[in-house]
Amino acid sequence: MCGIVGVVSNANVNEKLFNGLSNLEYRGYDSVGMCFVKNSKFTIKKGVGKLEEVHKRVDFLKLNGNIGIGHCRWSTHGGVTEKNAHPHVDCKNKISVVHNGIIENYSELKEELIRKGHKFYSQTDTEVIAHLIEENIMGSNIEEATRAALNKIEGSYALGILYADEPSKLVAARNESPLIVGIGKNENFIASDVPSILSYTNKVIYLDDKEIAVLTKNKLKIFGLDGNEKKKKIHTISWNAEAAKKSGYKHFMLKEIFEQPHAIADTLNERIANNHIVFEKEFSLKEDYLKKIDRIVIVACGTSWHAALVGEFMLEELAKIPTEVEYASEFRYRHPLLDKNTLVIAISQSGETADTIAALKEAKKYGVKTLSICNVMGSSITRISDGVIYTRAGPEIGVASTKAFTTQLAVLYLLTILLSKIRKTLNEKQIKDMIEGIRKIPLQLQSVLDEYDEILKCAELYHHKLNSIYLGRGVNFPIALEGALKLKEVSYIHAEGYPAAEMKHGPIALIDKNMPVVFIAPHDIYTYKKVLGNIEEVKARGGIIIVITTEGDKEITKKAKHIIFIPKTLYTLSSILAVVPLQLLAYHIADKLGHNPDLPKNLAKSVTVE
Ligand code: G6P
Repeated sequence: MCGIVGVVSNANVNEKLFNGLSNLEYRGYDSVGMCFVKNSKFTIKKGVGKLEEVHKRVDFLKLNGNIGIGHCRWSTHGGVTEKNAHPHVDCKNKISVVHNGIIENYSELKEELIRKGHKFYSQTDTEVIAHLIEENIMGSNIEEATRAALNKIEGSYALGILYADEPSKLVAARNESPLIVGIGKNENFIASDVPSILSYTNKVIYLDDKEIAVLTKNKLKIFGLDGNEKKKKIHTISWNAEAAKKSGYKHFMLKEIFEQPHAIADTLNERIANNHIVFEKEFSLKEDYLKKIDRIVIVACGTSWHAALVGEFMLEELAKIPTEVEYASEFRYRHPLLDKNTLVIAISQSGETADTIAALKEAKKYGVKTLSICNVMGSSITRISDGVIYTRAGPEIGVASTKAFTTQLAVLYLLTILLSKIRKTLNEKQIKDMIEGIRKIPLQLQSVLDEYDEILKCAELYHHKLNSIYLGRGVNFPIALEGALKLKEVSYIHAEGYPAAEMKHGPIALIDKNMPVVFIAPHDIYTYKKVLGNIEEVKARGGIIIVITTEGDKEITKKAKHIIFIPKTLYTLSSILAVVPLQLLAYHIADKLGHNPDLPKNLAKSVTVE
């Protein structure tokens, strides 16, 4: 999605703006641009391509000014052209705007503005904002004119705005698209997310919908669209800037895969006390209420949706609570059947996915309680849900989610233990075993990461294959889906995830000697033996069999071409261990094919539009 950064300072801001944009690259984009103000005049440079490519052509670091805005564009309205790249300006080249979001009534506004004599230069919805502010600027200051313009706009926006005649002011506004304000020394920032400005400040304010911020180098004021000033909380971010860097790894994705033992240990830290699970105060849901719930609905998108499916398995199997998983994008347009005893859980790494936010808002209309499982402190989803459990994965920059996923599974597991205990669906011994199981996971994950020669071999042998199938059952069916998604996302190889037994109802027709089939088949009392049968079926048709199973396995070893072992653990926890080899497989195949797995084509880290 588009990314925004803005700086107002007592010194040249070009490097900070450039670095800020470079830290937003992971969001996925097609063009970049910057605007500086100096001596009440704009200098604007923009172009199609990645930041480095455009920088080679225009030399962003040559530009100077003590105030500037920057943007990376992920196109929605208007093709990928230099004209459509942001910033966009008004007719007099006095108002410059960068925008993330979609202005829904832009065509009506545009027609009206054209009738009034405005000349449009691009096909974007964003340009309407610059002209609308221009209409309102006469006799008022930039914040007043912005407020008047925004009162006419319908849709989502995160905005950075400069006005050449008030060159010390940076104006920002937000509605349904993420935007934060960063507070520095003799300088202030705006940005789409925390990592983009983390090297300069860890003090941030999260703007809420329909708020406008006016920043100078030493002052900051925030208003509602009604013009009333607001007092806002300043948050101190605990992530350090180093965590948002590659630290010697070739790509963020690889670094984040290797961070998983640590990320899970952090996610468990201080949440297990004797035989109890203790969440922090933001969890906020009371024991009386948790005893009464008779249904859980989980909403999420992408990889978080796969985590939700694992959660469904855990919650039904152990806490015995009927659980349904919905795509957030579908849930928001249904008329779900929810009553006061239904708990709605939203899972999201970023906390800014537009569909998940909308699904939560929809749920709230029914008066139900909501809980979010989220990685980004203070993000939109955490602010609209009644309770929050944070995953503590640290900043996840790689577009394809890895450590956020496994920490989501860890949180769902802790939540399952808590609910099982409160509702007495498991005895103390079973709870103790579950706790012991998760405590071992960080070390066990480390052992999976220490030995992955077989994965490298598979990547080497099969990176030119055009298709592949991932099969799993029970708690590992979602892992088959996730393995297939990872491969599609970063290496552009078509992959299907299926429940292993369902294979014979369709995918089996695709199997031949060119088809790698990855089985996720750790030992369990339910389905292991059945999967052995499915492996035979693939073997009979010449498929290339790759299996992830439990250390010490004797039976599958005889049938598979490649075996990847994971340590012995409880069945519900096997999903956390089994997904890691699949992440590595996708990563190494992408790398061998010469794709940058951190920036897969057409994908965005956080999808902040519908
Ligand atoms: C995008 C990302 C995925 C992510 C999904 C949901 O599609 O590319 O990696 O799983 O959004 O994001 P969320 O932040 O809500 O978990």
